[in-house]
Amino acid sequence: MHSLKRNFLLLALLWTGLLSVLLFLNVREIQKSPAQQAEIQAKSLINSVISFRSWASHFGGVYVPVSEQYPPNPYLKSPKRDLTTTEGDKLTLVNPAYMTRQVFQDFHGKEGLNGHLTSLKPLNPSNTPDAWEAKSLESFERGSEQAMTIEQTSQGAKVFRYMKPLYVDDNCMKCHAEQGYKVGDVRGGISTIIDLREGDAIAARSIVSLMWTYGLIWLLGLGGLYIAFRRAIALETEREQKLNLLHVSENLAQEFINDMSELSTLEESFSALANMLEKRDPYTAGHQKRVADLAEKIAQELGLSQERAHGVRLAGLVHDIGKIQVPAEVLNKPGQLSELEMSLIRLHPEVGYDILKAIRSPWPIPQTVYQHHERLDGSGYPRGLKGDEIIQEARIVAVADTVEAMSSHRPYRPGKGLEAALEEIWQQRGKALDPDAVDACLSLFRNKGYQFP
Ligand code: HEC
Ligand SMILES: [Fe+2]
Repeated sequence: MHSLKRNFLLLALLWTGLLSVLLFLNVREIQKSPAQQAEIQAKSLINSVISFRSWASHFGGVYVPVSEQYPPNPYLKSPKRDLTTTEGDKLTLVNPAYMTRQVFQDFHGKEGLNGHLTSLKPLNPSNTPDAWEAKSLESFERGSEQAMTIEQTSQGAKVFRYMKPLYVDDNCMKCHAEQGYKVGDVRGGISTIIDLREGDAIAARSIVSLMWTYGLIWLLGLGGLYIAFRRAIALETEREQKLNLLHVSENLAQEFINDMSELSTLEESFSALANMLEKRDPYTAGHQKRVADLAEKIAQELGLSQERAHGVRLAGLVHDIGKIQVPAEVLNKPGQLSELEMSLIRLHPEVGYDILKAIRSPWPIPQTVYQHHERLDGSGYPRGLKGDEIIQEARIVAVADTVEAMSSHRPYRPGKGLEAALEEIWQQRGKALDPDAVDACLSLFRNKGYQFP
């Protein structure tokens, strides 16, 4: 149960961890995307500016009509800078840098268009690079082909900056040769700035919706896990309950065995057996105990050793134990028993013998039980033994059994009383019953004032 909980906690943690990692990777990807998009945008802008510039420099600049907005370029030192057409229109030569600067000025901020043409050695002071541009230009001179960075502006905006070098080719030499440039040198660069705030806002929105999605998936997963966990717990509980039941019955059996071994003496074990039998056969309640007591006294009266007399007592305690095999309805049946029922009851000496034969003891207990219905004249059962063929213990128990049985109440007949019982054994003295045992029994009752316990 405990390990189950731990496993599910572990699974939940794993699930949480997995989703956290995935979310983290996703968020990082989304956070990077505004800069990536800005990079694409910046490259295409700069590349197209470079294309227009090289188109213009191919002609060594282009002539445009002079206007207030586009006056002649004071930095262009060329004798052919200003022309007048045959019709009298004034034209001026526009070099690529002038064109670039004007386009950037005129269209600044439109569709995100912006740019700055710079050089480490500018002809025009307004083309002076800022710190980052200067650093990039230096790196171009060392061979870099582009530069980019993300910066916080002084206005607090987050921007992406991109810059590409401009290389000197033959067309440039017309105007820049006297500055000492050679073909292939880096003449300067064009940079652009892209505001990342809008992209960041979009990214933040998609991160929020991504988090909701992940949260939902996470909860769903946890819910599924919880349901599985509850099911597993239910199964486990059921299993444990079954196991507990098993343990309970095991424990009961163990307790019984312990109890039995605590019954240290055979006497106690036999008393327990007698009690068990009497649970099923209330009419003979106490019968065995009283027979045991009387039989022991008779044995003592006959001069048997204390040891042997104790054996007689023990045999008396369980002499009817074989009745455990007789159905309770038969044992408790009032009135006459059928022949069949009678034959069932008559099996009890043999059944008792079978039950007791495994017990190791110094006394002939199984034999005594086996023979307690044998009669001196051979009229008894199960074997019809005669005289000395019946052991003395059995002959003693037979007398005690007869007296006790006759004097007490039975289901099929009322008790005849002690006097009638004593009269009966006197009648049977030397016939069915052992004469010495009968004498001893009569003496006990008549002279010694014996009474059943
Ligand atoms: C028709 C003459 C002319 C041609 C051709 C020309 N430039 Fe220039 N360039 C100028 C002049 C004049 C300036 C001065 C600044 C301005 O006009 O803003 C200049 C400025 C620049 C600047 C800006 C830095 C500064 O010095 O102010 C760069 C970079 C530049 N040119 C690169 C080139 C390259 C590269 C080529 C060849 C592809 C080229 N130019 C072709 C005339 C020319
Ligand atoms: Fe009996």
